[in-house]
Amino acid sequence: VEPDVVTDVLIVGSGPAGASAALALSTYGVPNIVVTRYARLADTPRAHITNQRTMEVLRDLGVEDEVVAKATPQHLMGDTTFCTSLAGEELGRVRSWGNDPLVQAAHELASPTRMCDMPQHLMEPVLIDAAVARGTHLRFSTVYKSFVQDADGVTVTVEDRLRGDEYTIRAKYLIGADGGRSQVAEDAGLPMGGQMGVAGSINIVFDADLTKYTAHRPSTLYWVLAPGATVGGIGAGLVRCVRPWNEWLIVWGYDVTAGAPDLTTEYAESVVRKLIGDDDIPVTVKSSSAWTVNEMYAETYSAGRVFCAGDATHRHPPSNGLGSNTSIQDSYNLAWKLKLVLDGTASPRLLDTYTAERAPIGRQIVTRANKSIGETAPVFEALDGLSPQTPEQLWANIAARKDATEAAEKQRARLREAIAFKVYEFNAHGVDLNQRYASEAIVPDGTPDPGFDRDPELYHQPSTRPGARLPHAWLTSGTRTLSTLDTVGQGRFTLITGIGGDHWTRAAEAQDPAITTVAIGPGRQYEDPYGDWARLSEIADGGVLLVRPDGYVAFRHATAAASAEDAERLLTAALRRILGHA
Ligand code: FDA
Repeated sequence: VEPDVVTDVLIVGSGPAGASAALALSTYGVPNIVVTRYARLADTPRAHITNQRTMEVLRDLGVEDEVVAKATPQHLMGDTTFCTSLAGEELGRVRSWGNDPLVQAAHELASPTRMCDMPQHLMEPVLIDAAVARGTHLRFSTVYKSFVQDADGVTVTVEDRLRGDEYTIRAKYLIGADGGRSQVAEDAGLPMGGQMGVAGSINIVFDADLTKYTAHRPSTLYWVLAPGATVGGIGAGLVRCVRPWNEWLIVWGYDVTAGAPDLTTEYAESVVRKLIGDDDIPVTVKSSSAWTVNEMYAETYSAGRVFCAGDATHRHPPSNGLGSNTSIQDSYNLAWKLKLVLDGTASPRLLDTYTAERAPIGRQIVTRANKSIGETAPVFEALDGLSPQTPEQLWANIAARKDATEAAEKQRARLREAIAFKVYEFNAHGVDLNQRYASEAIVPDGTPDPGFDRDPELYHQPSTRPGARLPHAWLTSGTRTLSTLDTVGQGRFTLITGIGGDHWTRAAEAQDPAITTVAIGPGRQYEDPYGDWARLSEIADGGVLLVRPDGYVAFRHATAAASAEDAERLLTAALRRILGHA
């Protein structure tokens, strides 16, 4: 039977994973179709923390400026507050999301981009609009039903919800970006570890002008320790800013064994009132929904010509703000590989490196996010508030920290330490930027893994060792200032060398696919006026880095090539391995 529609890549889902896959593929000129279940994109704020690595991806895909213009800026994200309610007592704060002065410096040194808070209902239209403008065909109200695959492609049956009928789309590859209840991942039989439904949570989206309780301690997150706040949920009650300071989202837990409460407006308002603590503030509840905390990750991200990305492969709570970030980064890893396989440049073996590179990251972030929930318990413990018999007892325990007693002084110290420890959730720069890959698309250079000098979750450590993301350094080109990261990407391999690296440059010019060549040094195309690149590059001036389209170093040779032939031989061999031909 002839399929009704034919394309190169069919993407199921228009969330962060699907929308960014479409954007990257269309940017690279790969024909693609997105089908998505509803008649709209996300209608609630959902994921929002957007980290530097994601901003780098969006910069390469040409939508960074638009995201920055629509997002809440970093300086308004960062005084995570612990309190008994917004109007109630404050228990302490953590400088967050790069707003601690030392961490801020680390952020500035690490990347040309800044974190921001971009709620998902604003992010998805930016990604999808750009994808459609570059060629993506988007079909709303279209539901994935099933697939069958053979040696040449995948035939997918979809349902048109407007007409109520089904049709088939034939694609060379299928991407399941259909979220935490992924039918594609299930039909593909992707093996999963971990478990779903660890705890119960409710999201309540509402409007209220909370300026008087928030503008003096601007933040994305206000955590509320109140009676009931340790039941289910994500560690405590949460009042999350959607738009400063009048659009909000509350996360509140429920006992998953008892089932979700009836989400009436009265119920939602009662939770909002409890967490705000001021009944005089007018509140309009817009929606509420129940969801569960999950701890699940796929061990393999593909089966034949079917690839999954985003929550389809990693399901975890919002702690650390990793959901949308990791989803976008998955798709960015996959898109250039699909392009090179589809245009015949690379062997399909290149696609096997998708699981090898992304599955360890997925597992790591699922574990990290769930660990962060547990690390809120010491804040309650410090206040003897984990399981008080009555609300009065909890308030008395919280009040006890104000006493002039030795016990109260110890309690204050415990509370300070417990709150400060939450940097692992709110300021984990290493989790955001230290992702390293080991796969067939990375050529080891024989150097031992240097590990990390400091805590790899908290601190970013740049490296040019193959498998690391290219470090950021500011360069100049005439009157322009640009990042090393701006010299790579756009779907192309880039060779970076310096004075004495001409053999490498010439070897690159002879390669297929075409390689962008970058020479850094006095009088060359790019200069290194601050000496930052020289300090970070870990190669001699005549040494070389071959950087993949996704900004990862794939091959490094620390010194100048001995001869033109040597450069040609080494570079060709590296590229053959990366492209799966070796
Ligand atoms: P995502 O779930 O965003 O997208 C899946 C897409 O697939 C959707 O477009 C959907 O319509 C489509 N789809 C599904 N099945 C389909 C089918 N059979 N056929 C066609 N289309 C199909 N995170 C966070 O950090 N903070 C938060 O507060 C929240 N809150 C939140 C609320 C709700 C209601 C949800 C669903 C999720 C969150 N999240 C969140 C999680 C966050 O939204 C999530 O990590 C990312 O959106 C993951 O992006 P994906 O693109 O992988 O899936």
